[in-house]
Amino acid sequence: MNALLHPAGRRLEPLRVEDLDALLAIEVQAYEFPWTRGNFIDSLAAGHVACWLREGNGPMIGYFLAMRGVEEMHLLNLTVSPSQQGRGHAVWMLDRLCEMARGEGAAQLWLEVRPSNQRARRLYERYGFAEVGLRRGYYPAARGLREDALVMSLPL
Ligand SMILES: CC(C)(COP(=O)(O)OP(=O)(O)OC[C@H]1O[C@@H](n2cnc3c(N)ncnc32)[C@H](O)[C@@H]1OP(=O)(O)O)[C@@H](O)C(=O)NCCC(=O)NCCS
Repeated sequence: MNALLHPAGRRLEPLRVEDLDALLAIEVQAYEFPWTRGNFIDSLAAGHVACWLREGNGPMIGYFLAMRGVEEMHLLNLTVSPSQQGRGHAVWMLDRLCEMARGEGAAQLWLEVRPSNQRARRLYERYGFAEVGLRRGYYPAARGLREDALVMSLPL
């Protein structure tokens, strides 16, 4: 088999503190207002769902973190390395998260997204999420301002 035509399959690894250097290298490229190392450490300490994506034994391509609720899951962070975007990695990670959430009895998946983040909004809308609300001034923005968050939800 030609490894280029048939790339190694995608795999998820559990995120650990040791993985945070690789993760943060992606996070700071992907966002104008990235999470800090402390944000990720807090998420790990809280026991949230936290996974990273690779192909075969390759380097980190992306990751997601999600918080469990009562019969619901809340997506906190979904990121694909800028050089790897547009190849279906985010859709694949969403598929895995939905499977996990359903397996734990969740009926709804929630997330927030910046109204200005057209790429992510299009992905979530196509995936089946519906806009269900707005959180005013939820995100930091340029010049010390704040940006609202759209709240989106997907029935599982
Ligand atoms: C938003 C984000 C996670 C999307 O990741 P991605 O891996 O590029 O997304 P996907 O490839 O799964 O889907 C995106 C597009 O690729 C298309 N696609 C899906 N599978 C594909 C495939 N096998 N081959 C080519 N394109 C594909 C999708 O239809 C979609 O099309 P569009 O560009 O016309 O919308 C990524 O852009 C990112 O990390 N952005 C910065 C961080 C961020 O904003 N995260 C979300 C915060 S709420």
